[in-house]
Amino acid sequence: MTTYLIKGAAIVDGSATDLLIRDGVVAAVGRDATGRGAEVIDADGLVALPGLVDLHTHLREPGREDAETVESGSRAAALGGYTAVCAMANTDPVADTAGVVEQVYRLGRAAGLVDVQPIGAVTVGLAGERLAELGAMATSAARVRIFSDDGHCVADPRLMRRALEYVKAFDGIVAQHAEEPRLTVGAQMHEGDVSARLGLTGWPAVAEEAIIARDALLAEHVGSRLHICHVSTAGSVEILRWAKQRGIRVTAEVTPHHLLLTDTRAESYDPVFKVNPPLRPSADVAALRAALAEGVIDVVATDHAPHAVEDKECEWGYARPGMLGLETALSVVRSVGLSWDAIATRLSRVPARIGGLTEHGQDPAPGVPANLTLVDPAATWTVDPAALASRSRNTPYAGMTLPARVVATFLRGSPTVLDGKAVR
Ligand code: DOR
Ligand code: ZN
Repeated sequence: MTTYLIKGAAIVDGSATDLLIRDGVVAAVGRDATGRGAEVIDADGLVALPGLVDLHTHLREPGREDAETVESGSRAAALGGYTAVCAMANTDPVADTAGVVEQVYRLGRAAGLVDVQPIGAVTVGLAGERLAELGAMATSAARVRIFSDDGHCVADPRLMRRALEYVKAFDGIVAQHAEEPRLTVGAQMHEGDVSARLGLTGWPAVAEEAIIARDALLAEHVGSRLHICHVSTAGSVEILRWAKQRGIRVTAEVTPHHLLLTDTRAESYDPVFKVNPPLRPSADVAALRAALAEGVIDVVATDHAPHAVEDKECEWGYARPGMLGLETALSVVRSVGLSWDAIATRLSRVPARIGGLTEHGQDPAPGVPANLTLVDPAATWTVDPAALASRSRNTPYAGMTLPARVVATFLRGSPTVLDGKAVR
């Protein structure tokens, strides 16, 4: 295994230092970090971050390998600065058994570009009717701790309660896609002025907020851990603040796209902007940014949702919801003003803690697993969908010039990205 000496990287407190990476760990930090025979990486002007951790990634394997595979999604993740991703369960077949989560886990190990931690489905087939084999998934080789029907809401309150009760035994988490389905029948975009003008059926904020309030109360009643996927409204932020003040064990994520884009994008009728939950008005965007700064929203998660051309480049009404996110997340959150320390907290330290990914989310220090990313803070780049590593092209940032670029990513001391290019 090659030893690396990273010279002159700025760690998040701003000071420049040297990092010696040997045998998978950070062997030394600072001026005493000298390694005979080490390969030297000149990191002058670069920022060293703990490797990013995504709690919400759709890798599409098994079932839709035309849109993404575990390997192509892992490569996109590494290029985005990630060292771990949590793979959502809405594959085909659904990841609702020990067999499927073990398959995804093994594919992740074989690709070897990021740690792929499978998420298990809450209900069989995501159908919302019967609990899946949560215990079997938890005790499988994949050691599942997060369960989610993402893409669908666990709408039945009795089933949600039972899921929360079940995961409590192993300190698991239920990650809810908060959408009261009876309020979003036929919905195409955020319900508001723009939807009224465009004549598209609206997805009202209350459909999200009602479920978050209900599930926070259920989590309190049961004493379990609840996570809310892709929070998108100012009202949701108020409910989360209330729940946290009350001591309820709830955490929440926001996506890069909900931090940057608004519902006016739908005016183009370009389905690349169709996503679930939908893009919201600027007042919601402002509330989400403030909530992230305050910590009411704990983490940024990508909801990387690759879709094949035929599922996306069609009429708005027929297009699948979802956007690519892994390769642009760091630049997008930087563009909305997050500091490097906030990025380390919200995209690495806290998601690693929530997901129980103990090898990740740690700042470089002697003995710590060498999962880290080097970023050029002065670089800018223009997003070209054809140049992305994802098998899909549905990025909403095509043609946009964004700040900051990942130069290198290390997974347990081995580079997955060097000079901004995937090593494999
Ligand atoms: O936009 C979305 N796409 N939202 C989801 O909840 C699911 C995801 C997908 O799987 O494509
Ligand atoms: Zn979702």
